[in-house]
Amino acid sequence: MGEISRRGLLGGLTATAALGALSACDGAEVTPPLVSSAPPLDPNSWASVRAQFALDTAKAQFAAFVFASPPAVVRDAIARHRAGLDADTFGYLHENEEGALERIHVGASRYLGVPGTDVCFTDSTTMGLGLLYGGIKLRPGDEVLTTEHDFFSTHESLRLRAERDGVTVRRVRLFAQSAAASTDEIVSALVKALTPATRVVAVTWVHSSTGVRLPIRAMADALAVHNRDRAPEQRALLCVDGVHGFGAVDAGPAELGCDFLVSGCHKWLFGPRGTGLVWGKPEAWARFQPTIPAFENAAFGRWMGLSQLPPNPAGSPGGYHAFEHQWSLAEAFEFHRTVGRARIAERTTALATRLKDGLAGISGVTLFTPRSAELSAGVVCCNVGSLHPGMAAAQLRDKGVITSTTPYEPSYLRFGTSILTGEDDVDRALAAVRSLG
Ligand SMILES: Cc1ncc(COP(=O)(O)O)c(C=O)c1O
Repeated sequence: MGEISRRGLLGGLTATAALGALSACDGAEVTPPLVSSAPPLDPNSWASVRAQFALDTAKAQFAAFVFASPPAVVRDAIARHRAGLDADTFGYLHENEEGALERIHVGASRYLGVPGTDVCFTDSTTMGLGLLYGGIKLRPGDEVLTTEHDFFSTHESLRLRAERDGVTVRRVRLFAQSAAASTDEIVSALVKALTPATRVVAVTWVHSSTGVRLPIRAMADALAVHNRDRAPEQRALLCVDGVHGFGAVDAGPAELGCDFLVSGCHKWLFGPRGTGLVWGKPEAWARFQPTIPAFENAAFGRWMGLSQLPPNPAGSPGGYHAFEHQWSLAEAFEFHRTVGRARIAERTTALATRLKDGLAGISGVTLFTPRSAELSAGVVCCNVGSLHPGMAAAQLRDKGVITSTTPYEPSYLRFGTSILTGEDDVDRALAAVRSLG
C-alpha cells in the first residue's frame, strides 16, 4: 500500500494526459463482446445520435430520461468489463481498477469543468443526497432551508437527518404558480426565508414536479451577499439536486455558482444504470463528514497505521460495486462530449419549446412548465382537461407515445424532450394529446 493517495495522483495529472496514459493500459487483453449493432456515430446528425440507442424507435420516447437506456458505446463498454470480470474477477479488477476510476474522474472533470478530485461517485442521485444531507457538519441550532418543490429524496434525506440529531429543517415556497414563476419572485422568496442560522440551502435545479428550472446562478449571487460577512463555517451552502439539468442544460458548477451539485448519471446523461456523482467546492467538502469509507490508498494506509494523511472527504463511497457499470461512465461522458454539451442542451430546449407551444394551443390543456427557456429545460408538465394523468399516460401509451406522471401530489402528465426524441415525435405527441378523451 503506497503513500500516494489516488486524490494526490489525480491532482498531478491533466485531463488529456491522464486519458492518454490510461487508454494504453485499460483492459487490453479482454476481447470486447460487442452487444450493439448501432451504425457509426455521426454527431452532427440527430438521426445518427438516436440510432445509437436500443430504445424502441416505433414509439415516441418522452420518458427516456427517467432511467437511462445507454448508447451503444456505453453498452459495449459494460459488456466488455462484464466479460473481463466474469472471466477473471480478481485479475481484471487488479489490472483495471485504478485506471478505470481515473478515467471516470477525467470524464466528470471535463463535463463539469472542475478538478476530478472534487467529485465522488455514487450509485444514484438519492444516494448522493442521502450521504450529503446526512454528512454535512451542523451544530445544535443550525438550520437547513429547503423548498416545497423538491423531490422525495431531498425531503426524506433531510427528515432522516432531523430525526437523527434534531437539526431544524424549514421549507419555503419559491413561487405562487409554476408556469408564471420569475427569477425575481424566486430569489426574493429565498432571501426572505434565510435566517442567521441557515447553514444549508437545499434545492433542485430542474423540478420534476413541474419542469421549473431554478435560476441557480441568481440564487447563488443572493446567497453570496447573505454570506459576505459570515465566518466560513457559518455560511449557508447552496446544495443542488441537479439530476434533471445534468446532461440537459449547458452549465456546470462555474455557471451555477453552487457549493454542492448532486446528480445521477443514469437520466439525461444516458450513462450506465446505477451511477451518479457529487461535486463540491473544496471549502464545502471541508464541511462534510463521510459516512461510507472510501477505498483509497491513503485511507487504507491510515487504517493500517502507515500514513497520517487525513481522510479525503470527497472520496467515493467504498466497497466493491457493479464496476462494469461504474467504469463505463467514461464512455457516457465521452459520448456526451462528442455530441456536444451545448448542442444537446439546445436540442432539448428547442424540442421542449415546440412541445410547449403546441400544448398551449390545445383546448383543455393546462401547462405547468414555464414557456421561458431560461426557467425550464427538457421536463414539460401538463394536465389534459380533467383526465387523470395516469389515464392520460395510459391512453398515450396505446398511441405509441411514452410519457410518465409526476410522483407528487398533485400529479401531472410529464414529457421529457431529449436526444432520443425528434420533431416528428413532438408532432406525434401533440396529435395524440389532441385525440385524448
Ligand atoms: C428531482 C429528482 N431527484 C432525484 C431523483 C432520483 O434519482 P435517482 O434515481 O438517481 O436516485 C428523481 C427521480 O427519479 C428526481 O426527480
